[in-house]
Amino acid sequence: MSAFLGIDIGTSGTKTLAMDAEGQILAAAMETYPCYVPKPLWSEQDPNDWWEATVKSVRQVVRKARLKAADVKAIGLSGQMHGSVFLDKDNKVVRRAILWNDQRTAAECEEIEQRAGGRKQLIEMVANPALTGFTAPKILWLRNHEPKNFAKTRKILLPKDEIRRRLTGEYATDVSDASGMLLLDVAKRNWSAELLSRLELDADLFGTVYESEQVTGNLTPEAARLLGLSTDCVVVGGAGDCAAGAVGNGIVERGVLSTSIGTSGVMFIHSDEVKIDPEGRIHTFCHAVNGKWHMMGVTLAAGGSFQWFRNELCKADVALAKRQKRDVYDLLTEEAAETPKGAEGLLFLPYLSGERTPHADPDARGCFVGLTMAHTRGHLIRAIMEGVAYSMRDSLTIFEQLGVPIRQIRASGGGSRSPQWRQIQADVFGRKVVTINSEEGPAYGVALLAAVGAGAFKNVREACKATIRVVSETSADRKAKRYYDQAFPVYQQLYRSLKDDFKAIAALER
Ligand code: XUL
Repeated sequence: MSAFLGIDIGTSGTKTLAMDAEGQILAAAMETYPCYVPKPLWSEQDPNDWWEATVKSVRQVVRKARLKAADVKAIGLSGQMHGSVFLDKDNKVVRRAILWNDQRTAAECEEIEQRAGGRKQLIEMVANPALTGFTAPKILWLRNHEPKNFAKTRKILLPKDEIRRRLTGEYATDVSDASGMLLLDVAKRNWSAELLSRLELDADLFGTVYESEQVTGNLTPEAARLLGLSTDCVVVGGAGDCAAGAVGNGIVERGVLSTSIGTSGVMFIHSDEVKIDPEGRIHTFCHAVNGKWHMMGVTLAAGGSFQWFRNELCKADVALAKRQKRDVYDLLTEEAAETPKGAEGLLFLPYLSGERTPHADPDARGCFVGLTMAHTRGHLIRAIMEGVAYSMRDSLTIFEQLGVPIRQIRASGGGSRSPQWRQIQADVFGRKVVTINSEEGPAYGVALLAAVGAGAFKNVREACKATIRVVSETSADRKAKRYYDQAFPVYQQLYRSLKDDFKAIAALER
C-alpha cells in the first residue's frame, strides 16, 4: 500500500499522522514537550525535544497503522513558524530555539526598519513589517546580545526545517514558512538579497527555498533505521503550520477563510495574487499552493489564554475531569454556558503574550475589564472566549477593509471543537461558520502535500477536493449578533485607552 506521513512540530507537542492514498487517516500520535519561559514574555524550546518527539510519534504511527517500511512513500513537515534554530559547524544547537511568541526583540525590529531605510521600504522588500515574533529580529538579537553564540552559528533553520535536516541531511525550507522569517521576497518567492545585504547577513546561513509539494530529499540511512522506514521515502517542502492547517482545511481557493484556535488564533485567507496591507497590520505570506499567496492575522494567545486560565485557576477541575474521564475544557465551557452573552459587561483582552494583529505591540497585556461582585468564574471563562473571538474579528475587519471577498468561514483547531466557542465565533463575526470532515489541521495538510509530491494527486487543489467536505454549519444568532456589534467597538476602544498604561507597566519591569 501507499501511505504518507504528516508531522507537525507544534508548540505543545509533535503530532504525526499516517494517511492512505485516498486521504483516509490510518493512525495518529502526539508527543508533548515543555516550553521554557526564562523571563516574562520570553519563550524557548529545545530542538532535541522536537526530534525525540518526532521519532517516538512516527514509530507509534507506523506500529498502530501496521505499516511496512516500504509503504511510507513520502513525509510532509509542518511546524510552529518563525522559531530560530541556531546551528554550529557540527550541526549542534548553539542555544535553545527562540519561539514565535517570544517578545524580546522590540529594539531589533527598530534596527531592521532603520537598516531597510524605513517601514515602507521594508514592506516593499519582504511584504511585511518587522514584528517581534518573526525570525530576522531574533537573529539580530543573537548578534547583539549573545555575540559568542552568533559567531559560532553557521546555519539558521525554522523548527520543522531542523527536523528535515535530521531526516534528510538537507538545509532547506518552503516558501510559506520562509515568508515568516522576514527575509523572503514574498512576491518573488525567494530570499531577498537586498534585505540580507542591508542586515549584513550571509545568504549561506539559510537553506534552499522550495515550493511546498516539491521533494527536498530522501531519508538518510540513519533516519530510516531510527524511524523504521525506507531510504526511498522522500520529504517534501511542507509548510508553516498556518499554511499547512489551511491546506488541511481546504483553504486553497478565493473566498474561503479559516478561523483556527490553537495556542494562537489565526484568521487565514487564500489569495491568487500578492495583496499587501500598506499599514502592515496583517501578514502577506506565500501559500503552500504553488504560485499563490495568503493573508493572515494572528492573535498570539487565543487557546493559550484559556490554557493559562485552566493551568493557573482550575487545578481542582483538572483533577476532577481526570477522575470523571472528561475533558477539563468541556467542564469549563459548560460553566461558561450558564452565563449570558456579553458576560454581563465583563470584557477580556487576550494580550497575555503581547499582541500581533492588529496591534503589533509586545507591551500589550492581558486583562479583564468590568468585573463586579456579580461575576462568577463562568463569566470569566465566557469573557475569555468572547475576547478571543473579538480579537479575531479585528483581523476579519481588516480583510473586509482590503476588499478581500469572503464566501465561507471554516472553523478549526482545538478551540473550535467546542460547539459553544463556534457559536460565539459565528455570533461575533456575524456570519455562518462551518466545520469540515478532518480535524487534524496542519499534520493532515502536509500529509496531503506529501501525497501530491509523491504523485498520488495532481496538485494541492485536487487533493483537497478529493478529501475535504463540509460537515456542520453554525449560523449567527440575530440577537446575539446585534449585541456583539455594539460591544465590539467597546472592546476595540479598550486597547486604545490602555495602550500607554501597558507601556508604563512594561517599563516598570525592565
Ligand atoms: C503564525 C504564528 C503562530 C505559530 C504557532 O504567524 O506565529 O501561529 O505558527 O504555531
